[in-house]
Amino acid sequence: MSTEDASARYNYAPGPAQLPTEVVAEAAQAVRSFPPHGRSILELSHRSTDFNAISEQAEGDLRTLLALPDDYAVLFLNGGARVHYALWVQNLSTPGDRLGLVDSGFWSRQAIAEARKLRDVRVLPESPDPADYADLSPADTDGLDFLHYVSNETLTGLSMPTPQAACPLVCDRTSDFLSGPSDIRPYVLCYAGSQKNFGTAGLTVLVIRRDCLREETGLAPGLSYAVQARTGCLYHTPPIYAWYVSALMLRWIRDQGGLEEMERRAQARADLVYSCIDASSFYANPIAPRARSRMNVCFTLADPELEIPFLQQAETAGLIGLRGHKVIGGMRASLYNAMPVAGAEALVEFMRDFERKA
Ligand SMILES: Cc1ncc(COP(=O)(O)O)c(C=O)c1O
Repeated sequence: MSTEDASARYNYAPGPAQLPTEVVAEAAQAVRSFPPHGRSILELSHRSTDFNAISEQAEGDLRTLLALPDDYAVLFLNGGARVHYALWVQNLSTPGDRLGLVDSGFWSRQAIAEARKLRDVRVLPESPDPADYADLSPADTDGLDFLHYVSNETLTGLSMPTPQAACPLVCDRTSDFLSGPSDIRPYVLCYAGSQKNFGTAGLTVLVIRRDCLREETGLAPGLSYAVQARTGCLYHTPPIYAWYVSALMLRWIRDQGGLEEMERRAQARADLVYSCIDASSFYANPIAPRARSRMNVCFTLADPELEIPFLQQAETAGLIGLRGHKVIGGMRASLYNAMPVAGAEALVEFMRDFERKA
């Protein structure tokens, strides 16, 4: 968070999300003057050696964090992640392919709608439970060429484990990427917008198995994963500042102790807030315990009339961004990588205090 905004102590917004103070300070300094360049980073050429150093560091740190095998390419593309609901279909599959898409909630339904415009789609499971995830078996994916799912449904706070599938997996990891260790090998493609766990808005990162980079897609070159990989994601002028902020965040994650440490903090934060909800009849969370997200903790108040005072008093206490998504209402605390455990403690203290006084 900004060092100058002393009144907003913690930002629980779903993204763009809170960033570490030291990352914001370094990014702000680079806007004023980026020493290797001699002027603002906003004027830095994407074809300069200085930018090359930034992109190499970002990719190197991402590869180290994920222990990424050489047969995977990393693409740093302009945002948003949502564009890839159509692009993954056009880049990876061919007409005649049968695609499976898991329905786990709001974002997966956006992905299903896009895929349906382009290919034959099977939606799994047939009757999704909005409060729990589906236990898919490899038999459910028989005859499919790809299975797509959303690992974390940001709106409802539902987390899906890696499905058991007999076909290659594609995953929208936008709201839980780099929040803990993850084996990339079951996937041919993972993609994530940077604005939640590893940067600011404007960038989407793709990790894609190289043998899936098809040249013959018929797509405009800027939309082709193969062209972007071949040109080092410089086919068009990339969002260099968002890329730079992600480079800072990837280095920060590495320096903090990597993905194991991110997972330890994520668990600690989520445990604090869910324990507070479960210990009270004043707050409620509808998601089945095994499916609860560590990134987005949604809750309602027993008396909906108290929601506005809750949000107003939270803001006065310096806790911002707690309003739930307009589609489902209620409250949502997004607890991404840059949220300190103290941010979850502050929220819990406020929630207990609000309940006592209500
Ligand atoms: C899981 C998930 N996927 C996709 C998106 C869309 O991301 P973007 O706005 O970068 O297109 C979001 C945004 O919140 C999200 O939470």
